[in-house]
Order: sequence, then structure tokens, then C-alpha cells
Amino acid sequence: PAKAVADIGVTGMAVMGSNLARNLARNGFKVAIHNRSAAKTEKVVKEHGDEGEFFPAESMADFVNALSAPRVAIIMVKAGPATDAVIDELASLMDPGDIIVDCGNSNWRDTVRREAAIRERGLHFVGSGVSGGEEGALNGPSIMPGGTPESYRRLGPMFEKISAHVDGVPCCTHVGPDGAGHFVKMVHNGIEYADMQLIAEAYDLMRKALGMSAAEIGKVFEEWNRGELDSYLIEITADVLQHVDPKTGKAFVDVVLDRASQKGTGAWTVQNAAEVGVPTTGIAEATFARSLSGSVPERQAGRGLPAGTEDVSVADPAAFIEDVRRALYASKMVAYSQGFELIRKASEENGWNVDLGAMARIWRGGCIIRAVFLNRITEAYERDPKLPLLLADPYFSGEIGKSVESWRRIVSFSALTGVPIPAFASSLAYYDGVRAAELPANLIQGQRDFFGAHTYKRVDREGTFHTLWSGDR
Ligand code: ATR
Repeated sequence: PAKAVADIGVTGMAVMGSNLARNLARNGFKVAIHNRSAAKTEKVVKEHGDEGEFFPAESMADFVNALSAPRVAIIMVKAGPATDAVIDELASLMDPGDIIVDCGNSNWRDTVRREAAIRERGLHFVGSGVSGGEEGALNGPSIMPGGTPESYRRLGPMFEKISAHVDGVPCCTHVGPDGAGHFVKMVHNGIEYADMQLIAEAYDLMRKALGMSAAEIGKVFEEWNRGELDSYLIEITADVLQHVDPKTGKAFVDVVLDRASQKGTGAWTVQNAAEVGVPTTGIAEATFARSLSGSVPERQAGRGLPAGTEDVSVADPAAFIEDVRRALYASKMVAYSQGFELIRKASEENGWNVDLGAMARIWRGGCIIRAVFLNRITEAYERDPKLPLLLADPYFSGEIGKSVESWRRIVSFSALTGVPIPAFASSLAYYDGVRAAELPANLIQGQRDFFGAHTYKRVDREGTFHTLWSGDR
């Protein structure tokens, strides 16, 4: 039997799992490794054994025995039933106080369920979001662990060490109990959808309104990346747009089919937002824009529909590009504001006590939405931890103030010319909605009371009212 020497273990030696194990080993931790089929474990030792101290185990029992108490075992296998099976196997071999960590992209409700079941058995269960893909797992991801404070005391220092660091600060913190970590990771992905869609709309505007080439637009993004939009996604956009397809010599994006795929975390975010009643319209538009792009028969059938557009010519291309940049920044602020309101609401409903400023801080490095802009969010929540609306923070309202006229010009331009920019346009509609003194919901309440006796409240008196509608006007 193996000696209990390893600081931590990882089971599941596909790319994410082996990269996480290598990251741990490179950072000086003794890492037990295991995979259902032993070949993958052997491969890690053979190819990367010199990177640190690995303790390969063939059986799950040997794997567990290799871990020093209280044991910490990370699971990185296929999401769903496979994860449940591995959790069960591990739990049956472990002792009270040991910690099982799921670093897969699990649905946070599964994490809540698993945490409760594992707690019953006297063990800790940590559902942890890990962002940054394969590269991040190896070189420093953004890590979002949930679970008990006790489990974080054991696990946190290791995760903080292997996470990305920005200004010396780790991109990892204890998010909150049970499903909090996976919930925050889900919203991170939703925001990523919104960010990507907004960038794509900016590209589309420059392409269709100004007839710019992909490479020329790539140069614009390169320029934008030197300002407040400085971020990983803007940076890679500049690269992707300037990339040439070696086969045809054409711009890479001009040979790529315009149908976006999705793995579901955007849809999860939208579902959860709808359930708790937080309007995350930016994320929703981004998710549905991907669905629309992939709706092939519908797009074929829709192709000849009347346009009714006006031929608006752009008098000053440089001014137009600056308008697009400002509209992009304003819409991005809306999408993030909405995402953070969603985390806050879920945190309140589930008693998670998530520190919103800390979430922005741990997204500054390692993950796909890493951006200079996240510092502004952390600062906003430092100014006011109870801030009810991120957009109302002085920095954000000031920036939107500088951008809102550009934003309106771009949205009107697209309405007149027929360039679809759903995320820009609906973000502006949300902005106008949230700042409106009055909304037409009074009429909705009247309609509801008319057909369903749903009652309404009045502006001039306390209480709940119902009108007897029969016939009279
Ligand atoms: P992906 O689509 O992510 O590549 P996969 O290759 O089927 O998914 O599985 C990823 C990891 O989960 C692998 O380490 C895999 O183990 P094997 O190498 O033995 O296939 C592991 N995995 C998948 N299903 C599992 C199960 N039911 N029990 C244990 N491990 C499992």
C-alpha cells in the first residue's frame, strides 16, 4: 500500500486534470495522480515526471492512501454521472474531515446536492470553478472554490499558489458555501458570452458600415487594447482578425462559417437569471445571437424578408469608429453590471455572502474575461459594498455619461441600416429602462387585473386594489 505522503491528489488525467496536476507539482506540491485507465497516468509521469513530485496510483484505493490527512482529492472527469460515480467511490474510501474537490464545469445545483450528500457522510465537498482553459490550468487559472471555510483553510493556500497572480494578488478566493463557486463560474462564462458578442457586433459595424477589411479592423482592436478596453478578448480579437488562412491567402474570418456553437453555460446563466428575476439582457442577447447564427433553415427562410433600410453614409469614419468604441464600452458596463446583480441576488437567496469586489479581483488574471476594467469594478464595491447597481457607481456613471451619445448614434445607425447589433441595442434599452422615472408597468398591472384579478398597488394610497371591470370603460 502507498504511503500517505502527497499534499493533494488529482483524479482524471485528461488535459485539464493533468495540467492542473502539473501546475501543482511545478509549485512544489506532492501530487498523487490517478485516472480510470492507467495509461493516461503513466503518460503524465513519463512526459512530465521531471516537473515535480508525482505519486501515480493505479487504483482509487492506492490514490486515496497516497494522500496525507486531511486528504484533498480533486476530481477532473467528465461532468454529470461520471463525476457522481467518482465522488461516490472517493467518499467510500475517505475518512471524516477529508475533502473532495470538483473542479469540473458542474452545474451549481448539482454542487449543492453533492455538498449536502457528502456533508452527511462527514466529509467536505468543494465545488470549484476553474477558468482559463487548458493553458490556464497549467500556468495559472482563475479559481472560484465554494464549500466550507474549514475546507478552504486546507485547500485555499494551495489553490492561491497555483492560480494566476495580478500585482502579486492571487486570482483565487473563497467564494462562499456549497454551490457559490460554481454559480460564480457560470456567471463568469455568461459575461464572457456577452463580451464576445459585443466585440463581434463592433466588428460587424466596421465591416458593413465602413467596408473595412478584417485586417484593418484588427488594427483598430489593437489600438483599443491600449485604452480602457485593454483585455484578453480584445487582444485575441486583434490577432484573429489579422490572421491569414494559409490555404487561400484570405483573411481567416472570411473563410470561417458564421455559425457559433455553445456548450451551455450561457444558457444556464440566462435560465438562472430568469428564475431569480434579474434582467441579464446582455448575456441573453449574446446567447440567443449564437442560437440565431446556428438556425440554418430559419436564416435561409428569412433571407429575402423586406429590409426597409435607409442608405446612411458615414461622413467621418474615424468619428464613427470612436462612437463604436464608446458604444462597446457602455454596453460592456451594462453586461457586467447585470452579471454582478445576478451574483448578488443568488448570493442573497442562498445565503452565500459573496464579496462582489473580490469576484472582480479574481477575474483579473487567468481567465478569459481578464481585463483592466475589472479593477474599476473592485474599486466600485470597495467604495460601497452595498452598491445596488454597478452602473450607478460614480466611475461607471461618469464613463457612460461620456459614451451615451455615441451609443445612441450607433444604435440608431444600425436600426436605419439594418446591421443587427442585438447586444448593443438591448443594453441601451436596459440602460434607459433602469434610469427611467416611470415604466409602463402600470399598464401591465391594469391588464393583469382586468383578465386575472391579479390586483395592483396605487401611487396615492397604501394597500392592494382590484377593480370590477365588467363592461364599463
Ligand atoms: P472529454 O470529452 O472531456 O475528453 P472524456 O475523455 O470521456 O471526456 O473523459 C475525460 C476524463 O474523465 C478522462 O480522464 C476519463 O477517463 P478515461 O481516460 O479512463 O476515459 C474520465 N472519465 C470519464 N468517464 C469516467 C467514469 N465514468 N469514471 C471515471 N472516470 C471517467
